[in-house]
Amino acid sequence: MHKLEKVWLMIGVMTLIAFLSTVGYQAFASGHAPPSDLTKLDPEKVEETPPFDEPGLHQIGDNEYELIMVLQSFGFTPNKVEIPQGATVKFIVTSVDVVHGFEIAGTRVNMMVTPGHVNSMTYKFNEKGEYLILCNEYCGIGHHMMSAELEVK
Ligand code: CUA
Repeated sequence: MHKLEKVWLMIGVMTLIAFLSTVGYQAFASGHAPPSDLTKLDPEKVEETPPFDEPGLHQIGDNEYELIMVLQSFGFTPNKVEIPQGATVKFIVTSVDVVHGFEIAGTRVNMMVTPGHVNSMTYKFNEKGEYLILCNEYCGIGHHMMSAELEVK
């Protein structure tokens, strides 16, 4: 093999290694992996399975909350939530029927919500305002109406 060929081959291999380690580091070490804790539950028994037997906002610390939400065609339970400014909220969500989306417009909160699985994601709300929670996975005839409100006061 020509010497220059080897050099360029090495450059290619090194670039690939650098790229894969950057992506791997972002995904695993700094927590940018897909938002799912892969907990499973029976989608037909959501109502009686904790924490979904008590959907809603629960305070767990100093301006820290857990928001338990159940998604079904075509709505969110609860569908209107108020939190104080600066609150850190862990969203814990599941679906009772089909695949829905959970996106909070204007934030990085965005999850695919699959029946039989529990998804969660944490976000800190530094700015006051009304946030729109919407379903961004096509789920049927009422998909475009599937939304909820989150108010940061
Ligand atoms: Cu639920 Cu689209």
